[in-house]
Amino acid sequence: MRVSPFPVGIQIETTSRCNAKCGFCPHPVVSKTEPQGVMEESLYRRLIDEVSEYPVQLLQPFLNNDPLMDRQIVARTEYMARKNPHAQVCITTNGALLNQDIAEGLAELRLHTIHISSNGLTGDTYRDTMKIDGYTVLRNVNTLRDCLRRRGSRTRLVVTAILMKRNRDEVALMREYWRSRGVEFYLNPLNDRAGNIDVAEFADMLPFAEPANQSQLHNWQMTACQSLYTTLAVLWNGDVVTCCMDWRRDNVMGNVRDATIREVWEGAQYRSIRALSDAGRLDERPLCNGCGHNRFSIQPDRLAKQLTSGADAQSERDRELLGTLVHLREQSPQLIQLGLMQ
Ligand SMILES: C[S@@+](CC[C@H](N)C(=O)[O-])C[C@H]1O[C@@H](n2cnc3c(N)ncnc32)[C@H](O)[C@@H]1O
Ligand code: SF4
Repeated sequence: MRVSPFPVGIQIETTSRCNAKCGFCPHPVVSKTEPQGVMEESLYRRLIDEVSEYPVQLLQPFLNNDPLMDRQIVARTEYMARKNPHAQVCITTNGALLNQDIAEGLAELRLHTIHISSNGLTGDTYRDTMKIDGYTVLRNVNTLRDCLRRRGSRTRLVVTAILMKRNRDEVALMREYWRSRGVEFYLNPLNDRAGNIDVAEFADMLPFAEPANQSQLHNWQMTACQSLYTTLAVLWNGDVVTCCMDWRRDNVMGNVRDATIREVWEGAQYRSIRALSDAGRLDERPLCNGCGHNRFSIQPDRLAKQLTSGADAQSERDRELLGTLVHLREQSPQLIQLGLMQ
């Protein structure tokens, strides 16, 4: 594959912290062992200044964290957007810390998209899935929506949910709720973050009953990966890791405290992992091998056939869920993303 002269998509983690404890995310576990901290302002500015010399297309001021845990996030995102007026600047947050000031600040920036990761409509579902207060998030997202509207902003406000056992009965309501407020809503599949979530916990979160879940898990051979040629991910301390799946720093490509982004991008670590990818042997790296496993996606016809054989109450509930998903997708095909339904 052709290597872009400079990454076209860059994620910069300005703090490692997160205020939530999502059961589906490696953060609560990994943050206990991996170094934690906040990126120095001088490093952040130097990175953004370097990025501004290239025609980068997508910039995101977070990686494995919640960006609103950085008290300077509005100022930092403003700098990112101002120095890179041609890039799409997008931010993704759980929304719990999105108070009026931050909402006004972000709305002012004319970002391309603000994604809110929201996995329920009720307080109980929120507590069980993310351990944050759902009512606060709903209020905050509505506040942000109003801030954007008042400004006539073209920033997309998008709510995304992951389909899981714990929220499966709320997805139709969530879609209705956000639609009634004029906010885009998408449903994504769960994956095990390239082996970075516990296998048993992952299996427990899948939306259907067994063996339907197992039958819908896909295992792709990750022999090559385009992201190694196009995108770069920097942690708060300057470590450049493989991608957003590299929660435990399996492959550190270099550190941008001691080198420029360009030097790391062209450096030995990147050359070596790209050589494996070019040779179709990327699965020799454990992280990349794991990345192709445990990707959930629903094959509606196959699943429907499998479920008709079960006469028990659970199979009945699973059939109902499948019916809801098929119906939602018929109404708006783009609602169900990233291969949740093949
Ligand atoms: C790691 S979070 C970082 C940004 C922010 N803290 C948030 O939650 O939006 C980025 C996205 O990854 C999603 N995510 C986390 N774990 C996931 C998993 N196991 N499967 C699919 N998506 C996941 C989150 O829901 C979120 O939308
Ligand atoms: S998904 Fe986002 S909000 Fe949830 S624990 Fe992970 S980083 Fe935090």
